[in-house]
Amino acid sequence: MKRPLRKCLSAAAVGLRNAALGGSLAAASLLRQPREALLFVNETLFLYQTFAGRRRLPQRPVLEVFGQCSAAEIRLARLPGKMWFHSLASYAIDLVSLCWVCRAIEPRVVFEIGTLEGYTALHFALNTPPEARVYTLDLPPEEASAPLLPTTLMDDAHIQGARRRRGYLFDSFPERAKITCLYGDSAGFDFSPYSGQVDLFFIDGAHSYEYVRADTLNALRCTRPGGVILWHDYGRVGVNGVSRWLHELARQYDLACVPGGSLAYLVVPAR
Ligand SMILES: C[S@@+](CC[C@H](N)C(=O)[O-])C[C@H]1O[C@@H](n2cnc3c(N)ncnc32)[C@H](O)[C@@H]1O
Repeated sequence: MKRPLRKCLSAAAVGLRNAALGGSLAAASLLRQPREALLFVNETLFLYQTFAGRRRLPQRPVLEVFGQCSAAEIRLARLPGKMWFHSLASYAIDLVSLCWVCRAIEPRVVFEIGTLEGYTALHFALNTPPEARVYTLDLPPEEASAPLLPTTLMDDAHIQGARRRRGYLFDSFPERAKITCLYGDSAGFDFSPYSGQVDLFFIDGAHSYEYVRADTLNALRCTRPGGVILWHDYGRVGVNGVSRWLHELARQYDLACVPGGSLAYLVVPAR
C-alpha cells in the first residue's frame, strides 16, 4: 500500500476510535461541523486521561518544579488570530508553562526544532534575558524534498504551512534580534556546534515516533546537565508518536508532564 494512503487510513482509524471513545450526546450536535467534532472528542479524551490519572508520565506543574523565583512576570505577544489562547485551553497552559520555565531558568541558549510561523520562538525571545540567543530550526522553505524519516499526516500539513509562510510573527518585534533561523531536516542537521551548549531545548518538529526519538537523542547531546528539554504534544490522542517515545524514554529518565497541558519535560541529569 502506498505510504500517503496508509497514513490517511491510519488517521481515519484513529479518528473513528476517538469518536467512539470520546463521543457523547453533546458531541452528536457537532456532527455538521466535523473538524470541531473531532477536536472536541480528542480534547475530551485528553482531559479524561488527565483526570483518570491515565497519563503515564507524572503530572507536575512547572511552577512547582522550577521554583527559582516565587513570582515572575511573563510576556505574552498579542497576535490576533495566531494565539494559543483558543478554545483548546491546553495550548494556553503549554504557552504559559514555556514562558515560566524561561523566567525561572533564564536560559542563555535556547534551541527549538519546529519554527512554523515563529510563535514559540518569539515567546522564548520575549521571556529570556537580553543576551540570550534563540536558535530555531525548520525545513528549508524552498525545497520540496521528502523528509528523511516517516512523518504523520498532521506533520505533512504543518510542513506545507511552513513552506507557504511569508515572514515570521517575530519580524516586527525588537526581540527579533535574539533569534537565529536555521534551515535543515532535523534528522540530518549538524548539531555538533551546539553540543553541551544549550540551556533549554524545545522539540516541536515532526511528531512521528522516529522523528521525536531522533530529535530527543540530539537534544540530549546538546543540552548541558541541569538544562531543560521540553516536548510539545505529549498525550494528544491523534496520530502522534510523542507519547510512545516518551514512555520508552521514561524508563531511563525522570520525565514529567504539565497537568492539563501537552508539555513534557526533563531536567537533564549530570552525565
Ligand atoms: C507543530 S509545528 C511547530 C509549531 C511552532 N513551534 C509554533 O510556534 O507554533 C512543526 C514545525 O516543524 C517543522 N518540521 C517538520 N519536520 C521537520 C524536520 N524534519 N526538521 C525540521 N523541522 C521540521 C514543520 O515545517 C513545522 O513548521
